[in-house]
Order: sequence, then structure tokens, then C-alpha cells
Amino acid sequence: MTPPDPIPRWPTSLSSLVLLIAATIPLATAATPPLTDHSKCGCFLTNGPEPRFFQFHDFWDFRGQTQNAGVPAIKATAEANKMAPFSSKYFSSQTWEKKWITNFWDNQENTRPDATALMVMSRNNVYLEANADSKSDSSPQTWLTLRTSRLKDPQTNEEFQTAAEIESFHKVKFASVRMLARTIGAPGAITALFTYRHADRLMDVQESDFEVRTRDIDTTIHYTNQPGYNDTGDPIEAATSNVTLPGGLRWTDWAVYRLDWTPGNSTWFVNGQQTLQKAFQAPRDDSKITLNAWSDGGRWSGNMSLGESAYLQVQWLELVYNSTESGAGKDGGIHKRSTGGRLVERAEAKNCTAVCSIDETPNTGQPVMLWGAGNGRREMMGGAAGWIPYLVALGLLWVSAR
Ligand SMILES: *[C@@H]1O[C@H](CO)[C@@H](O)[C@H](O)[C@H]1NC(C)=O
Ligand SMILES: *[C@@H]1O[C@H](CO)[C@@H](O)[C@H](O)[C@H]1NC(C)=O
Ligand SMILES: *[C@@H]1O[C@H](CO)[C@@H](O)[C@H](O)[C@H]1NC(C)=O
Ligand SMILES: *[C@@H]1O[C@H](CO)[C@@H](O)[C@H](O)[C@H]1NC(C)=O
Ligand SMILES: *[C@@H]1O[C@H](CO)[C@@H](O)[C@H](O)[C@H]1NC(C)=O
Ligand SMILES: *[C@@H]1O[C@H](CO)[C@@H](O)[C@H](O)[C@H]1NC(C)=O
Repeated sequence: MTPPDPIPRWPTSLSSLVLLIAATIPLATAATPPLTDHSKCGCFLTNGPEPRFFQFHDFWDFRGQTQNAGVPAIKATAEANKMAPFSSKYFSSQTWEKKWITNFWDNQENTRPDATALMVMSRNNVYLEANADSKSDSSPQTWLTLRTSRLKDPQTNEEFQTAAEIESFHKVKFASVRMLARTIGAPGAITALFTYRHADRLMDVQESDFEVRTRDIDTTIHYTNQPGYNDTGDPIEAATSNVTLPGGLRWTDWAVYRLDWTPGNSTWFVNGQQTLQKAFQAPRDDSKITLNAWSDGGRWSGNMSLGESAYLQVQWLELVYNSTESGAGKDGGIHKRSTGGRLVERAEAKNCTAVCSIDETPNTGQPVMLWGAGNGRREMMGGAAGWIPYLVALGLLWVSAR
């Protein structure tokens, strides 16, 4: 007697092969998941080497804001910069202010040890700007600009730098943040996207950042898990990396910059390509998300020439994140295509029977449903079981192709 074959035999006749292939099609097409409304998403699963589930999703689209666009004239004095009003009602809207703080402060009290210039963050330097080159429907009409400029104050006769910063209203704990952005302008500035946790002692600061130094050659950028210097001002080499942009890109080109802050790691991408992963000093505790454009005449930024400016320009900003703060992820759920683009989308915190993706979507800002509610799946958060249909589909395709 021959022992029973432990391996089930796959059908080999042509007709059963056709049936088998047909049977796999619904599963295989599930690999290009359907677009959905993000109110239907319980959570968002990211791709890359550190895939994680996140509760909340916000999408800020600055491309259609013609009614709020306008470049404010640079204010001449440090005082006028510090006291400046919002550049448009967009930044005083509830939608914006529930999620972002447009900062105004100066570095007189809390200066970096190597700073040589007064730096004034101003609401006047955060504005929506019309695209002067907008020729076709596909090019953006507007974008968000963060501006920094070197001036001489006629009141004090001293040079100073005026700068720009927005900071998330809520702290997040772990996030994947992406922006379609570019940096242009004069040497002597830093433009940045980062997580930030303030601390009185430098060594207690937690920060994971992406930075452009406008005095570098235009093909290299910097990634740092701060602090990058210790208390005696010596560099902490493992904290920072100088990275060449992939694909011959320059930071003056539009590109999607992504930072994944996950437990124990920071992972950075440019246009979907992983550029660096750093476990060293990866932030651990609740942090704000910040974007800025600045210079303080110190060793890192250098000095900008008098009368010059540099700009961080952002077409859209997208975040998936977790937060323990009440109110995070809430509100601002306005869908205003007719008045010029989506402002914010959101997902309620709820148990995650419906898992969405912002990576697999063909339409940036609108998630796709990877697997949904109502199919009997429960407690998918943190589980890998949801990938089984895809693996099965792939396996069947592989088998049937033999
Ligand atoms: C986000 O929160 C959910 C729900 O608590 C959890 O399952 C998930 O693992 C969290 N994500 C990260 C990156 O910690
Ligand atoms: C800073 O780093 C330098 C070089 O590694 C070291 O000699 C110095 O003791 C460090 N200072 C502090 C305060 O840790
Ligand atoms: C980063 O690398 C580029 C290219 O090698 C170099 O020109 C630049 O000076 C470096 N910047 C820093 C801060 O090390
Ligand atoms: C950080 O990433 C590395 C490389 O992918 C991985 O080996 C390590 O386990 C990660 N650390 C944590 C805490 O997940
Ligand atoms: C910036 O200018 C100040 C004042 O002229 C000077 O003291 C400082 O060394 C300069 N900084 C750099 C990094 O060159
Ligand atoms: C999770 O959500 C589903 C669908 O909204 C609901 O039927 C289920 O009762 C919820 N489970 C828990 C534990 O809240």
C-alpha cells in the first residue's frame, strides 16, 4: 500500500484551471482596493518597513485656495513681525485653528547657544500663494508658503531674521506624515518637517526631523533624531545623517517627503522610496508635528544675506497618527471642493473593523478600503490576519500559473 499523499493535488485539466483562475479574480482584484470616504475607515495601515495601524487621518490640501491667496509684504521691524495678524482668514478659521498653531515668538529668551541673530517667528510669513505659472488644470493654483527673510530693523538699526512656523495643536504619539513640498530661495536658511517634544534641558528634547539647509548643494538633505549636539556642544554623530536625494532630485523640485515615527524607529522616504531608517534616539513620548523656515545666524543655518528670503512651499500635507489627547482627530471634517479643495478629512476613533490605506490610493488624500466592516472580521488592529486574502490570492495565482 502506498501512503496517502499528504499534499492535495491541484486540478490539472484545462477547464478546472480556468475555473481556478476565475475563482481567484475577486481576490486578486482586491489587491487594488476601492476608494472610500474616510469616515468609513476605522483605522489606517501604512506600508513600508514599519507598517503600523493609526487611528486618525487629516489631509490638508492647499492647492485650490485662490480665495485666500495673497503674499503679504514683508514687515520691516522685529516688533511688527511679532505682532502681525494672520495673512488670511484661512489661518484664523476654526478648521485650521483646531489643528494648527501659527506661531509668533522670538529667540530672545530661548536662544540656541550659537545663534548670532534675533529671530522672530511671524504669522505674516505663513500664507497661501497663487501659482503664477498655473497653466493647466493639473498644476496647483495655490500652495502654502512659509517664508524667512533677513532684514535690518529701522528702529534698532540691527539686523534680524523673520521666520515662519506652524505647529500641531495636539500632541501625537506615533505618526506617518507626508507633504508635497519644495524649498527655494537664498542660502542661510533651514526648512523643516519634524516631530518635537519640548524639554528645558537640550538633552531631554525629543525630535525626529527632515531638514533642508539652503546653503548646501541642492541634492542633499538632513535627517536627525535630536539632540544632534550634547551639552558641551560636541556633535552626536549617530543622531544625524546627510542624505543624497534619490533619482537625481533637487530639494528645489516638488517631491513627497514622508516621515514615519513608529515605536523605536524613524523612517524617511522621498517620493515613496525609503531614504533612511534610524533607531538611534527615536522619539518615545507624545510630540507635536511642526513645519518651519528659519535662520538664526548660527552654525547650522548660517547667515542669510540682508534683503534675501527663502521659502518652504507645500501643496498638501497628510497625516495618519495616534494621540492620547482628547479632541485629537476630531472636527474640521469639511469637504469643500466647490470652494477650492478639501480642507480636512478625519476619522473617528473607533474600533478598527474597517482598515484603510493612504498609500495604495490613486487619489492623494482619499483613502482606499483594504478590508472592510461587515465581513465578520474583528479586532484587526495590530493583527496580520487581514493580509491572508492577499497572500492566498497571490499563492493561487502563482500555483495556477505553473
Ligand atoms: C495606534 O492605536 C491603535 C489603537 O490603540 C493601536 O492598535 C495601534 O497599534 C497604534 N499604532 C501605533 C503605531 O502605536
Ligand atoms: C560631549 O561629547 C564629547 C565627545 O564625545 C565628550 O567628550 C563630552 O564629554 C560630552 N559632553 C557631555 C556633557 O556629555
Ligand atoms: C552634506 O553632504 C554634501 C555632499 O557630500 C556636502 O556638500 C555638505 O557639505 C554636507 N553637509 C553637512 C552639513 O555635512
Ligand atoms: C527598527 O528598524 C530596524 C530595521 O528595520 C528593526 O530591525 C528594528 O527591530 C526596529 N526597531 C523597533 C523597536 O521596531
Ligand atoms: C553670522 O554673522 C555674525 C555677525 O556678523 C557672525 O558673528 C557669525 O559668525 C556668522 N555666522 C556664521 C555661521 O557664519
Ligand atoms: C466595533 O465596530 C463594529 C462595527 O461598527 C461593531 O459592530 C462592534 O460592536 C464594535 N466592537 C466593539 C468591541 O466596540
